[in-house]
Amino acid sequence: MSDFRQVQETKKTSEFQERTQEYQSVLSEYRDNLKRVTSHGPGKAVAQHRSRGKLLARERISQLTDPGTPFLELSPFAAFNQYDNAFPSAGIVTGIGIVEGRECMIVANDATVKGGTYVRETIRKHVRALEIALENKLTCIYLVDSGGIYLPEQSRVFPDRFDFGRVFFNQARMSAEGIAQISVVMGSCTAGGAYVPAMCDETIMVRNQGTIFIGGPPLIKAATGEEVTPEELGGAEVHTGISGVADHLAEDDADALRICRNVVAGIPKPEKQPLELRKPADPLFPVGELYGLLPLDLKKPIDVKAVIARIVDRSEFQEFKANYGKTLVTGFAHIWGIPVGIIGNSSFLTSESAQKGAHFIQLCDQRKIPLLFLQNITGFIVGKKYEHQGIARDGAKLINAVANAAVPKITIVIGGSFGAGNYAMAGRAFDPRFLFMWPHAKISVMGGEQAAGVLEAIGSNGSTQRLVDEFAEQSSAWYSSSRLWDDGIIDPADTRKVLAITLSVSLNRPFAEPKYGVFRM
Ligand code: COA
Repeated sequence: MSDFRQVQETKKTSEFQERTQEYQSVLSEYRDNLKRVTSHGPGKAVAQHRSRGKLLARERISQLTDPGTPFLELSPFAAFNQYDNAFPSAGIVTGIGIVEGRECMIVANDATVKGGTYVRETIRKHVRALEIALENKLTCIYLVDSGGIYLPEQSRVFPDRFDFGRVFFNQARMSAEGIAQISVVMGSCTAGGAYVPAMCDETIMVRNQGTIFIGGPPLIKAATGEEVTPEELGGAEVHTGISGVADHLAEDDADALRICRNVVAGIPKPEKQPLELRKPADPLFPVGELYGLLPLDLKKPIDVKAVIARIVDRSEFQEFKANYGKTLVTGFAHIWGIPVGIIGNSSFLTSESAQKGAHFIQLCDQRKIPLLFLQNITGFIVGKKYEHQGIARDGAKLINAVANAAVPKITIVIGGSFGAGNYAMAGRAFDPRFLFMWPHAKISVMGGEQAAGVLEAIGSNGSTQRLVDEFAEQSSAWYSSSRLWDDGIIDPADTRKVLAITLSVSLNRPFAEPKYGVFRM
């Protein structure tokens, strides 16, 4: 086991103190933005919602989940700085919570945000939650309160492969896999949205509040001239007593959530992937010291071993190939008692470090140890010498191993995520079970200045400064999270907690046997 004496000394340097100080402004922006996006819709809509005797989406989640247990909210910054910020959290709250001792995916519409309607990011967030539930075999609970598609955006949300229809496709596939799905209809549930509860195993509806219909009263009036109230058309009594579309009648939100908990209590707990777990123990160094290790100038390196020491149990890290391919750090540790193989960047990837990474992934796959990628990568090393050595061949080996690893992968972007390095370090395209960003992290094909340099070299006459500015905006964690390129931005100090939850969740689906393609030698 490595010891981290040197790391402790870092704390005393003035650089460490300065970085800690500088990071406070990043954190305060993060906390302000988080408060903004988690405060539901406009005051008027919140007041109207409450006047109807309804709980807010996050209150519903907190009543549904076991007291004192954590809720890992996913992508709270979806749609941030888009649509004039009229869709905080994209009008839907998703996340993993514990209900009757079971890890569940919870999807709750926020009816105070434009009637809980769906824009592109709402759908991406809903579909992503279902993907996570499918990959990790999580029971799903839908707290439904939505006016369906946000009609002015219909061309961006309706027809394509991963648009609204994907929700119902995924529900059917999840059901076929034996993943339990429960709906609690606590408000409107219109048009395509009616299939959310209709495709569930069990559905609860709130009296005089929940409605389900394929075509609402205005549509019926226009189509057939028939006049009918929402309650007569598809209220809770209709669906639990006449149509059979729903199964349980609840008196109010609290009653519905109580019934839902009872239903979940009857679902068998999944058998987890057997692993040798250890007794969890805190790191030797406070997680708060992470801030002092993070330069805001991403051109400066991050001491990834010092980061690891503040995330893993007892700060114990059994390094693999410590003296070879040093630009990539690989090794074994435990997080909250769960074994994990960690791959973190110290610098750009070389032939040696790419081969070392591929070798390490195979070890973890054979030993059935989940993988954690700590991404801070400018890309692969460039230059004639390295091309002649076959950097593309060795990079391909790493990419092959990352893509085909059968154990769960979790990625945290702790600094820069640039170019092909993003792929080799389990970026979004490589299907990590979860991907989170730290608030100062950046993601783009290359840095803005480098991109301007490339364009200049090929004779493009665009505005260099404009390109640099665009890259700066579009590479920020805010831009990424707003578009669901990740599962959320997290405070570095929460990383250990987030990893404990996601690693535990990832064990719900027993790991497949490793199988790789051709490694170019
Ligand atoms: N598309 C676009 N905007 C919609 C919408 C939709 N489907 N449904 C609601 N909104 C907007 C409203 O215009 C209003 O916007 P504003 O705050 O800027 O004025 C806001 O969402 C809240 O709607 P409102 O009707 O005031 O709230 P409510 O709580 O009384 O009713 C609904 C909510 C969802 C029951 C009701 O708006 C409704 O029936 N909407 C139409 C549902 C529908 O037919 N959907 C089919 C789409 S597939």
